[in-house]
Amino acid sequence: MALPKRYTVTAALPYANGPVHIGHLAGVYLPADIYTRYLRSVGRDVKFICGSDEHGVPITIRAQKEGVTPQQVVDKYHALIRDSFQDFHVSFDVYSRTSSKTHAEVSSGFFKKLYEEGKFIEQTTQQYYDEKAQQFLADRYIVGTCPNCGNENAYGDQCERCGTSLSPTELISPRSMLSGAPPVLRDTKHWFLPLDQYEPWLREWIVEGHKSDWKTNVYGQCKSWIDQGLHPRAVTRDLDWGVPVPVPGGEGKVLYVWFDAPIGYISATKEAFPEEWETYWKDPESKLVHFIGKDNIVFHCIIFPTMLKAYGDYILPDNVPANEFLNLEGDKISTSRNWAVWLHEYLADFPGQADVLRYVLCANAPETKDNDFTWKDFQARNNNELVATLGNFVNRAAVLTHKFFEGKVPAQGELTDSDQETLKQAAEFPAKIGELIENYRFRDALAEVLNLARLGNKYLADTQPWHLIKTDAGRTGTVLHVALQIAAALAPLLEPFLPESAHKLSNMLNIPLGKWDSAAQLNALTAGLQLQEPALLFGKIEDATVEAQVQKLLDTKKANQLANAPVVAAKENISFEQFQHIDLRVGTIIAAEKVAKTKKLLKLTVDTGLDQRTIVSGIAEYFIPEALIGQQVQVLLNLAPREIKGIQSQGMLLLAENADGSLALMQPGQPVRNGSGIN
Ligand code: 2FM
Ligand code: ZN
Repeated sequence: MALPKRYTVTAALPYANGPVHIGHLAGVYLPADIYTRYLRSVGRDVKFICGSDEHGVPITIRAQKEGVTPQQVVDKYHALIRDSFQDFHVSFDVYSRTSSKTHAEVSSGFFKKLYEEGKFIEQTTQQYYDEKAQQFLADRYIVGTCPNCGNENAYGDQCERCGTSLSPTELISPRSMLSGAPPVLRDTKHWFLPLDQYEPWLREWIVEGHKSDWKTNVYGQCKSWIDQGLHPRAVTRDLDWGVPVPVPGGEGKVLYVWFDAPIGYISATKEAFPEEWETYWKDPESKLVHFIGKDNIVFHCIIFPTMLKAYGDYILPDNVPANEFLNLEGDKISTSRNWAVWLHEYLADFPGQADVLRYVLCANAPETKDNDFTWKDFQARNNNELVATLGNFVNRAAVLTHKFFEGKVPAQGELTDSDQETLKQAAEFPAKIGELIENYRFRDALAEVLNLARLGNKYLADTQPWHLIKTDAGRTGTVLHVALQIAAALAPLLEPFLPESAHKLSNMLNIPLGKWDSAAQLNALTAGLQLQEPALLFGKIEDATVEAQVQKLLDTKKANQLANAPVVAAKENISFEQFQHIDLRVGTIIAAEKVAKTKKLLKLTVDTGLDQRTIVSGIAEYFIPEALIGQQVQVLLNLAPREIKGIQSQGMLLLAENADGSLALMQPGQPVRNGSGIN
């Protein structure tokens, strides 16, 4: 088949409502970057398009939670995401944003054309409206009791406790998240894309046409959607954050975020390449590939293509190689539970080691099923594969050349059969790896790059130049020449996966980073070329480093448990008189020591303003005695004295108990006289 004239590669626009995490990277951005870097290396014409998805309810909800405007939210996260992608060496040709002027024009124009050509249907439906806040409520803005499990805080689109998909009218006792008031149903008009009219075409294009070239998970999801029957889908919303609906009757309404976001790919291309953008989107000889996560399949395979088809001029995606999900330490990655490895934090904790994360995420990418990221695996892959296999091969070849040949590439003498066999095998790697990449099998492709390093290691182990030098310097030179040519071939093959290391390697070999096909020649180095000083490509990762990361996750888990632990129910009311019997005072701890032979008890002496009395308190696990001395505390003075471990305890310290059982002293907000009453 003829090669496409050019490629348009898109990566899902991340919502600018939070930072990017390893799940996003493994699922979308890393495979897209590998694919694009490879295409550039083989000399294809490609544009790699992305940007921030800045509209929709996730943004407005985040703004509401943080008490800021939606614009402030997207400005903050757009910059954070853009910069962390850059530091992770994701080589977008453009990283734009959907709040841009160009995007408003392009998406608005797109809608208008479909509207004018009668491609939409208009429907009036009933939707929940908050009379106090005077606005229609998006599904996520309505909470109520789940009809399935009784969770009182289920959302209008889903119950997060039992996972059931809901529509707002199914909620029992719905209330608005804006005002807390029960919403009322009101008529509202919207524009719908009649997906049902496109069903025969979708069936032919996907079910018949892409059965063998789309990934099974992608094809399966599309087929099941189509088989279940397609329905008109609303492409406008009653919201005040988004691209305004540009047609009569559209006042106060915006385009649905899933209508405007994919058009963002087009507007980003137009913004960055105003002269040539159309060829990337309209010339049938351009190949369009969308990289996405599995939760975006329907939007990219059914809804967006239907929009493009309805519009008329555009090409359709040739492939949508969606990945499954990456879990973290056995648990689903979740932004709201802070269960993630955030890219910007990784880059701060592991400076200069973007490639290590790129390696681990690609080697373990969820290409055909969900996968798990663990810090132990991260460490093992770095130490055993990057350091001990790849780094070790390159290092041995370079170090031995410095040791025996003053760092100059030795001349190649006569080649033995086994030299020739090794070179022949090495020469096959570029085509093999390239084919895997073109078929979106990035894990297997990376494994083959490592296999090339293994081949090099085996060659050195078989020929043993470190012994050979004692008897045959000429032959040693030939062996190192062969080994160095393999090391040089690794650089362009590594580049799509680990760009920083590929550059380090070619710098060390003192040659420019070659193009993909040059790797098969195995002649990048000429005899006599002076190599740079050898430097390690990868460093070992110590136990303490990954243990610190695991601890960070454990802390998150604990914080989540605390935040979600139910608050103990209220006790029965007491009368004011009963309360008046309670004598609460402020006192100062003047002595504290552990009670012998106990784990939990401390013997405290407290100056109560009236006397200095002994109080035995079960707080030894949470406080160091010395640290308590001088602290003002609240004391229940008139608790009947009782003997504890042979000590007369006269009163009780007031403490707040956390959900995990840990304790905090109840202290006055500012110093007060001992004996002051607490009423
Ligand atoms: O799921 C998401 O994160 C969406 N923001 C992806 C949008 S992709 C495209 F259509 F813009
Ligand atoms: Zn439920």
